[in-house]
Amino acid sequence: MDMKSGLFGERVIVIDFGGQYNQLVARRVRECNVYCEIYSYKTDIGQIKEMAPKGIILTGGPNSCYEENAPTYAKELFELGIPVLGLCYGAQLMMHILGGRVEKAPVKEYGKTEVSVDSDSPLFADVSAKTICWMSHNDYISQTAPGFQVIAHTADCPVAAAQHTDKNLYAIQFHPEVLHTMEGTKMIYNFVRGVCGCAGTWRMDSFVEETVNRIRERVGGGKVLLALSGGVDSSVAAGLLSRAIGNQLTCVFVDHGLLRKNEGDEVEAVFGTNGDFDLNFIRVNAQERYYAKLAGVTDPEAKRKIIGEEFIRVFEEEAKKIGAVDFLAQGTIYPDVVESGLGGESAVIKSHHNVGGLPDFVDFKEIIEPLRDLFKDEVRKAGLELGIPENLVFRQPFPGPGLGIRIIGEVTAEKVRIVQDADAIYREEIAKAGLDRSVGQYFAALTNMRSVGVMGDERTYDYAVALRAVNTVDFMTAEAAEIPFAVLQTVMSRIINEVRGVNRVFYDLTSKPPGTIEFE
Ligand code: XMP
Repeated sequence: MDMKSGLFGERVIVIDFGGQYNQLVARRVRECNVYCEIYSYKTDIGQIKEMAPKGIILTGGPNSCYEENAPTYAKELFELGIPVLGLCYGAQLMMHILGGRVEKAPVKEYGKTEVSVDSDSPLFADVSAKTICWMSHNDYISQTAPGFQVIAHTADCPVAAAQHTDKNLYAIQFHPEVLHTMEGTKMIYNFVRGVCGCAGTWRMDSFVEETVNRIRERVGGGKVLLALSGGVDSSVAAGLLSRAIGNQLTCVFVDHGLLRKNEGDEVEAVFGTNGDFDLNFIRVNAQERYYAKLAGVTDPEAKRKIIGEEFIRVFEEEAKKIGAVDFLAQGTIYPDVVESGLGGESAVIKSHHNVGGLPDFVDFKEIIEPLRDLFKDEVRKAGLELGIPENLVFRQPFPGPGLGIRIIGEVTAEKVRIVQDADAIYREEIAKAGLDRSVGQYFAALTNMRSVGVMGDERTYDYAVALRAVNTVDFMTAEAAEIPFAVLQTVMSRIINEVRGVNRVFYDLTSKPPGTIEFE
């Protein structure tokens, strides 16, 4: 939904030059209670001016700014009277455009580096004279542009930071957005709240209130349909829409029988007739239908495809019963928007359950995406604000195809039971050990391996359950988490004793790559 114009008041714009930390920069700004959006360096300056940002941040990037065809920006950006902060490539580009010199550094810097602050700067208010920062660069600023003063250096980098206070231009060679930069958050705060003078009005309670008003205005007396998966995004979208328009909202929740133990009932308890939200809740119990479709199918891609397509069929059938609606709501969040490369301009269609598109036969006029400006941690805060229970708001990431990709080989009702029970025990023990918020993603999976064991006096021939726990920043790479051995032992013995059909428990030590987080 278009909620750009003026809703969030003051804003800071991040201009993205392809740096790997671009989203992190925007998140750090928002942590200072300042609304922030990311735009590609290809965005026209006219569009930037129209948004009247209180500040502009140029990100890092993989190029050398002096090379032909390197990403650049109109010089006018530095003459708008808006404070600009360049980070890494952004800092070098600022110098390059304004008449300084950037060249290959005699010594590359990578990693935690001690930076010495040389003189007073609003950017370094309350920052220690010597501070550890995260460096990652091959080029360096060998000469600052006219009017700039060097404000920090390292042993190998004469210009670790520079400023032109009259013009409110700041350049930093290191990455304050990365948490390895010990006082980076303070520096970003100093820029957005100090230099740019932002008041810090971006807060989740006001977001909820303003979004609710916006939705009411836009929807009027119309009808809205939402596919509710029980995941964080669609649940918060449901909460927000329900607060705004009550039972003009219908949520269809498809229980495909591949959810975690009791999850279907938990979702129904929150959003169903006896729950706290005013909306029409339709639960479709499609378990048997899914198991029938999945019988005999062992290929992982074929399983994903069946689960996805079946979801569309079930959702369409329900939508047809409801008839024409005015809006189809989606739980698209800001990283989806950024990653789709649309930079917040036009509507992205998030394929529900990653199934490659929207149902064809759902009759709607427009798409409404109430969370498209929020990062995941903000979605969670909005969820708490709306009174959605913590266990739902802090729910682990869960793939659309559900347990279907945590059961290797054919999916059967019996195997689903085994993996659900084992996973429930694992989650319970992880929570008991106080690890549930610190481990990135963890779950039990069912290997397709059966082996000989012995229980009491009897020989068994049962399944092996694999436990997985990973820590990850972006889900593109991951490391196996170090779960204390005693916790794993408790989980193992409970699974063997309580879950019929299991006689072995493995712990998966594989990182990603070469493994993936899920098993199929
Ligand atoms: P992999 O297994 O690719 O998982 O390392 C990375 C992250 O993505 C989740 N995942 C999915 N999420 N539909 C989803 O909505 C899927 O098909 C899917 N496959 C993996 C996975 O849980 C992990 O967080």
